[in-house]
Amino acid sequence: MPADLPLNDGSALPALGFGLYKVAPDETGAVVAAGLEAGYRLIDGAELYGNERELGEALRRAADAPGFDREALTVTSKFWGEASQEPAAVRAAFDASERAVGRIDVYMIHWPRPARDRYVDVWRALVELHREGRVRTIGVSNFTEQHLERIIGETGVTPAVNQVESHPWLPQRELRAFHARHGIVTQAWSPLGRSRVLEDPTIGAIAERLGVSPAQAIIRWHLQTGGALVPKSTHPHRLRENLDVDRFALSDADMAAIAALETGERTGTHPDERN
Ligand SMILES: NC(=O)c1ccc[n+]([C@@H]2O[C@H](COP(=O)([O-])OP(=O)(O)OC[C@H]3O[C@@H](n4cnc5c(N)ncnc54)[C@H](OP(=O)(O)O)[C@@H]3O)[C@@H](O)[C@H]2O)c1
Repeated sequence: MPADLPLNDGSALPALGFGLYKVAPDETGAVVAAGLEAGYRLIDGAELYGNERELGEALRRAADAPGFDREALTVTSKFWGEASQEPAAVRAAFDASERAVGRIDVYMIHWPRPARDRYVDVWRALVELHREGRVRTIGVSNFTEQHLERIIGETGVTPAVNQVESHPWLPQRELRAFHARHGIVTQAWSPLGRSRVLEDPTIGAIAERLGVSPAQAIIRWHLQTGGALVPKSTHPHRLRENLDVDRFALSDADMAAIAALETGERTGTHPDERN
């Protein structure tokens, strides 16, 4: 089990979790049960994923089992705000996610949506939820350096986490350096490049030499860069495989070979383009 990462709010974040984007509602219960059974301690959800009710039901079922420790588990949700980015809408969305899931430990702004120019006020609403003790940790997702500088400058509060697309083709070197200067943990979404990076021959060669799968090699790369990540799988054996990354290490030469794969290619939208 990879070590937890300390956060700037005094708590800590499990470095390796699993995500629920594009997990169908009728599959969510089984995926969450398999993830908990495998030993994950972080589940990455969001209002947008349309499966928070099923996530909550799975967590309530898990709580009935002997030995289940909810305190050891971190569950994330994210504010989407399609209809409104007003502070009241943030609070209503948080309340709805909390009702569905049972408890939210990390709450994020899902996208900055810069053309709407409301993300500073949305961040203020998250800061209030945090100050009221409604949520342990607040963070953002898909924020660039410029968006981060603005919310930090205008509110004086630095997010604990920024969840961004990152994988060997898009290592986000400069953003990670900015995060390091400001004490923000980088949490990678699409850490396997939506499975496309699994086909990369350099990754394949490293994985073969180490006797691990390409997914395990990539996950190990993320952990050795010092960041967090939330790969997704609907298959119990892959959920277990993705967590089984403690028994090997990438050498400096492996890390350098993976660093050379950077192309800047994204599998998702650039943060400035989503409104
Ligand atoms: N904040 C945001 O804007 C944002 C955006 C996108 C994603 N996310 C988060 O990031 C999570 C992961 O992102 P993602 O699903 O886009 O991409 P990903 O985790 O990079 O890739 C998922 C794909 O890899 C496959 N896979 C997983 N483990 C594997 C293994 N060991 N061997 C072979 N294939 C494997 C999965 O297939 P199977 O499922 O068939 O196993 C799925 O097709 C999401 O679930 C979500 O929580 C956040």
